[in-house]
Amino acid sequence: MEEPKSQSEVKEYFRIVGMRPLVGNVTVGGSKNAALPILAATLLSDEPSLIHNVPDLLDVQTMVMVLESLGVQVERVGRHSYRIMPATLSGSEPPYELIRKMRASFLVTGPLISRLGRAQVPLPGGCAIGSRPIDLHLKGFTHLGVRVSMRSGYIEAWAERLQGGEVYFDFPSVGATENVMMLAATIEDETIIANAAREPEVVDLARFLTLMGASIEGAGTDTVVVRGRKNLKGCEYTIMNDRIEAGTFCVAAAITRGDVVVQGIEVSLLRSVVTKLEEVGAKVERMAEDVVRVTMPCRPKPTNIKTMPYPGFPTDMQAQFMSLLCLAEGVSVITETVFESRFAHVGELERMGAKIQVEGRSAVVVGVEKLNGTQVTATDLRAGAALVLAGLAAEGVTEVYGVRHIDRGYEDLEVKLRSLGASIERVRE
Ligand code: EPZ
Repeated sequence: MEEPKSQSEVKEYFRIVGMRPLVGNVTVGGSKNAALPILAATLLSDEPSLIHNVPDLLDVQTMVMVLESLGVQVERVGRHSYRIMPATLSGSEPPYELIRKMRASFLVTGPLISRLGRAQVPLPGGCAIGSRPIDLHLKGFTHLGVRVSMRSGYIEAWAERLQGGEVYFDFPSVGATENVMMLAATIEDETIIANAAREPEVVDLARFLTLMGASIEGAGTDTVVVRGRKNLKGCEYTIMNDRIEAGTFCVAAAITRGDVVVQGIEVSLLRSVVTKLEEVGAKVERMAEDVVRVTMPCRPKPTNIKTMPYPGFPTDMQAQFMSLLCLAEGVSVITETVFESRFAHVGELERMGAKIQVEGRSAVVVGVEKLNGTQVTATDLRAGAALVLAGLAAEGVTEVYGVRHIDRGYEDLEVKLRSLGASIERVRE
């Protein structure tokens, strides 16, 4: 019998035949960026928690492997539901290969310090979108009485004497806000987090921690006040929907000049994206509380985008919107202020005929009449989504490689797009 090929040898790509308008209904799944911190937060109690609406993604599988590597039992009770039983938590050192695979694994650090009084966590490496340090996480921990040292690529943290405190973030880091909030949730004292991240996923984590028994005020604002409790309870919780997946489908409707109803979208969490879609000429009609209909009657107009922490335009929508602006009838400027290098998709879009000039953190996009299908490769999750969107609009056939990046953050992307009339298939050579 032929030896099974290693993952790297199996060539897998999306094959897309472009220029087909997307029409129909699509439903948004659970939020990756809410599920990952909430799965980590289950460690804060020794009681079981039952989490629903967890998206079926490679990143979720990685987080589950991290929890299991620490001795925690995880039972998958449905495609989107997990029972976590953290009573058997024993390890304080998640394995390097899992941390390297997914930076968000670092979110177990706060819970480990809380439960075990210590954590040895490999430094998460850089990735395709920049160096992404963890200095703000560590600074926050030290303000709560944690001792931190660096030893050959590892962070060693131990709780000398945990106490509440004031934490100020130079930048409203999502992960650092989440890590510190989780640690503070078990400290029977008051912790104030100033210049906290305001992302909806931070609010969802705060809801979960409150259900566990912590008192959290101001989540979603730039100042969060946490009054923790020693023995937090396990609980049952349903994750919020994924606003970035929702935004991606709205842009897919626009770039293909289609007519798509997106269900399960919390429009108020995507106001910046909806505003920008309307600026370029899309029609975004609110059909119900969490349903919008996106139509695009004409070629997009140019606009300028500046990514900002929430509620600004989300960096996780920058690449997708760039694909749309490649086809605009004029010049657009996109400025990426959150990550220092999140333009890896530019080179691939240029190979499809896009005209883009990157100057530092800004990209000048000169709209063209059409893009041409060719082979392209995704280097990160949202760059992959952007290349799929470009392929849907391009003339001819586009083959998008690096599908594993896309599977990290989009559940059944090709299936959902096909249900909207796209010609897209997953090919395994
Ligand atoms: C979260 O990453 C998201 N990931 C990212 O989504 C998202 O792009 C990002 O927030 C910004 O919204 C998850 O929630 C799992 P940050 P995170 O800490 O927490 C710098 C996706 O596509 N920084 O807010 O890592 C950092 O270098 C992913 O779904 C420090 O300098 O983001 C970056 O430039 C990609 N020191 C900026 O802050 C620190 O200690 C934003 O990082 C921490 C961060």
